[in-house]
Amino acid sequence: MKAHLTRRYRFSASHRLHNPGFSDAENLRTYGKCSNPHGHGHNYGLAVTVAGQVDPRTGMVCNLADLDAFVERRVLEVFGHEHLNDLPPFAGLVPTTENLARVIHRLLAEEFRAAEVEEVQIEETSLNSFAYAGEKEVRK
Ligand code: NI
Repeated sequence: MKAHLTRRYRFSASHRLHNPGFSDAENLRTYGKCSNPHGHGHNYGLAVTVAGQVDPRTGMVCNLADLDAFVERRVLEVFGHEHLNDLPPFAGLVPTTENLARVIHRLLAEEFRAAEVEEVQIEETSLNSFAYAGEKEVRK
């Protein structure tokens, strides 16, 4: 039996939406006040969905303790209370929440071994959230 498991986390970080390849006017037109040079913060909600066969011995897709330990060490401690623009994954990549979801999805998909990582969803505010499930899901 295959099943999905979604676990939710929270972290706070700041970012500035700014593309150095754009003029100031283009940045302002594209990102509005989110391109303010001082940046701004969000309390992000992160939901990680993994999928896999339910292990008949444990009755679980994967051990939540393993997922929590991985996300804590590799995501929350790395991105939490940082200015996302200054972190290596965002060198040359605008830290929109779409790109943040893609960066976290790739990290999990490449290195979390206890289950298949299906989707990463990030809630930026109570009004918007972004989901990324890897390129094969997105391509038509
Ligand atoms: Ni923002």
